[in-house]
Amino acid sequence: MNKFSRIGFILTAAGSAVGLGNIWRFPYITGEYGGGAFILVYLLAILFIGLTVFLAEAVIGQNGQADVSTSFVTLSKTKNKNWKYAGFMVATGLIILSFYSVVLGWILDYMIKSFVFLPTEAKIAGENFENLISNDISSLLLYHTIIAGTVVFIVLKGIKEGIEKINLILMPLLGLILFGLLIYAFTLDSFSQAVSFMFSPDFSKIDSNALLAALGQAFFTLSLGVGTILTYSASLPKNANIVKSSFIVASVDTMIALVAGLIIFTFLFTAGAKSAAGPGLVFISLPVIFSSWGILGNIIAVSFFLALVFAGITSAVSMIEPSLRFFIERFKISRVKATILCGTTFYILGIIALLSMSKSFGEVLTFFGKNAFDIMDFASSSIMMPIAAIMICIFLGYFVEKKTLEEKFTKHTSYTIFSIWYFLIRYIVPVAIIILFLNKLGAI
Ligand code: PFF
Ligand code: NA
Repeated sequence: MNKFSRIGFILTAAGSAVGLGNIWRFPYITGEYGGGAFILVYLLAILFIGLTVFLAEAVIGQNGQADVSTSFVTLSKTKNKNWKYAGFMVATGLIILSFYSVVLGWILDYMIKSFVFLPTEAKIAGENFENLISNDISSLLLYHTIIAGTVVFIVLKGIKEGIEKINLILMPLLGLILFGLLIYAFTLDSFSQAVSFMFSPDFSKIDSNALLAALGQAFFTLSLGVGTILTYSASLPKNANIVKSSFIVASVDTMIALVAGLIIFTFLFTAGAKSAAGPGLVFISLPVIFSSWGILGNIIAVSFFLALVFAGITSAVSMIEPSLRFFIERFKISRVKATILCGTTFYILGIIALLSMSKSFGEVLTFFGKNAFDIMDFASSSIMMPIAAIMICIFLGYFVEKKTLEEKFTKHTSYTIFSIWYFLIRYIVPVAIIILFLNKLGAI
């Protein structure tokens, strides 16, 4: 049977969740918003909002045992066919994958170069990064092709032999590398400084921007609003305990983000560097610090970027699966055909994204003052993901028989947990997402 084993599902869903969002994005936004208080808000957002939507996707998928569109229709009270339009969300994963693959390409470049070369000064590191993304088109194309090829190769083999297998291998390796780096960080004097930066909240630093950033990060980090968790859950046996699995996956994702933060902030503070370095933190600040550690620095740098590659690949694989399943089941085409179709789409979009950051093509690929890369990022995370998440909440909260949902939950957990979840999905989460959405569109 093409179904996940219990541990297979947990590692695969965790593989989707744990990605660049944890190791690259979480530390730099935590740095920008000042540490402890931001993390506290983030943890609340994961617990009350992220986990609620995660459970929602898992319920729809496990119940439907099909692609996003079909699963929505099956679960709706009236079997209203119009719910098939929820299937639009499968496109979001392809768009995210386009630029995610490009960023993974940068990381691959950093990993390879770190064997022999690390910049000794921030100025040089900055120029190197700039040079890679704006001039070195041939390398970027090569790396994007390698990443896209790897993703296609894995998903072609299907759920069991491809996706589950790669996660069963890469996730433990990722855990091992991060554990090693954490132990090393622990031996450094700045470890305690990193701990207090991350865990002593200073609430004067929290404003509405920080709240919204925490909420947005909670969604992105748990892979929500893309149909990924829904589609993976559709390959779960009907009696598997999704409530427990969802808790485990959200906890693993959170743990890894916190560990990545501890490692990175310890390294930064050791060198007396600033915590608020923005997106360049991993590509500019860290390499300079590694270079001051001699050969050990090279080893740590390579391990670090390798961890990012592993984390990123398992997430990338999960972004394409909703659209594959959609085409396979709705249009009755083979997995190979669907993979060629979706693979070509994101590969080409990725080329457009990477060219749009270059000196030579940047101008023609800039629209309304944003380059194609930023447009894809904005359209997916700020528009399509929130719309899908709102739709999921409204659907379960108002268009599905309460009894059906209650049964799904109480099979595995208490009625209290169900009532809390039901309350959150009906009233709290949709409102929170609508606020986030309007804010991102610049309305409030
Ligand atoms: N959760 C991934 C991360 O934190 O990097 C990103 C992601 C994966 C977003 C899969 C969306 C998705 F469908
Ligand atoms: Na994540």
